[in-house]
Amino acid sequence: THQWRGIIEEYRDRLPVTADTPVVTLREGGTPLVPAQVLSERTGCEVHLKVEGANPTGSFKDRGMTMAITRAKEEGAKAVICASTGNTSASAAAYAVRAGMVCAVLVPQGKIALGKMGQALVHGARILQVDGNFDDCLTLARGLSEKYPVALVNSVNPVRIEGQKTAAFEIVDALGDAPDIHVLPVGNAGNITAYWRGYREYAADALATRTPRMWGFQAAGSAPIVRGAPVLDPHTIATAIRIGNPASWKFAEEARDESGGLIDEVTDRQILAAYRLLASQEGVFVEPASAASVAGLLKAAEAGLVDPGQRIVCTVTGNGLKDPDWAVAGAPQPITVPVDAAVAAERLGLA
Ligand code: F0G
Repeated sequence: THQWRGIIEEYRDRLPVTADTPVVTLREGGTPLVPAQVLSERTGCEVHLKVEGANPTGSFKDRGMTMAITRAKEEGAKAVICASTGNTSASAAAYAVRAGMVCAVLVPQGKIALGKMGQALVHGARILQVDGNFDDCLTLARGLSEKYPVALVNSVNPVRIEGQKTAAFEIVDALGDAPDIHVLPVGNAGNITAYWRGYREYAADALATRTPRMWGFQAAGSAPIVRGAPVLDPHTIATAIRIGNPASWKFAEEARDESGGLIDEVTDRQILAAYRLLASQEGVFVEPASAASVAGLLKAAEAGLVDPGQRIVCTVTGNGLKDPDWAVAGAPQPITVPVDAAVAAERLGLA
């Protein structure tokens, strides 16, 4: 019998663990790489979606968190802390349960999706809603981890990046080589950093013949890298990437420049259009921030930047169930019917 063992066991020789490391896992990773038929037709390319919402807590954060919590456990930590726009806190809370640790999370008040708050709560995290944005939460979390006995599990912790690079390995393992272009949303910029590291590592070891161009997309109201300056009051409906001063800013620019890629922005309207297209035409339900990658690909294609025939992977970072308000908003209301086949058939347009 074959069961995916989680990213640490599957890629053990490429991760900072030893035979004695106590692995804390929910068997994350091994997520689907789904061919995207409609996006392929629209762009004239071969487009695939790396569906990271299929991870145990519903986002790519689990790849980094299995590493971060494993290493914290190894070092004897009793408590972990993170700042989060929601997904990191959901993941940290779940993995802390597995490790028998206390988990503290700092989130921007009123700006995280309900599903993510529910996850942190049900896993028993200690939640502080901070009167500020994500960047303020991260400053506070860093300060607390320096002064008190609590391990920081944000992506400024380098082992998080190590775990997250495994998504690039999986893509090359599935496709047989690196794609021409890899597209992903950018918030705190840890994930673009991690993918670039993963692709470079495989190419250096001749497991891929090349590295892809890295294309990152920020939300237009939260696009500090595009603007070249921190955004003091970031805004976007894609709360997961509502970040004005990314911790891995420099690494994201390195990934862009070394790969011959780009970092651009997409509007909330473009994000929501891509979100609806993914759900209604590809059958893949993601949270709004995740759709920034696909929105960016479509924007670039419309601008003539996408040569036909290329192989393109878009990471969709989180599950749509985390933020269902956007699925319900603007959709037609369900119709109520009596227990009557004739009426039901008529309402369904079958009769
Ligand atoms: N997509 C989703 C669904 C996210 O939750 C995040 C980040 C990103 C994209 C951006 O990734 O930060 O590595 O550039 N969420 C973090 C959090 C900030 O706290 O959950 P990034």
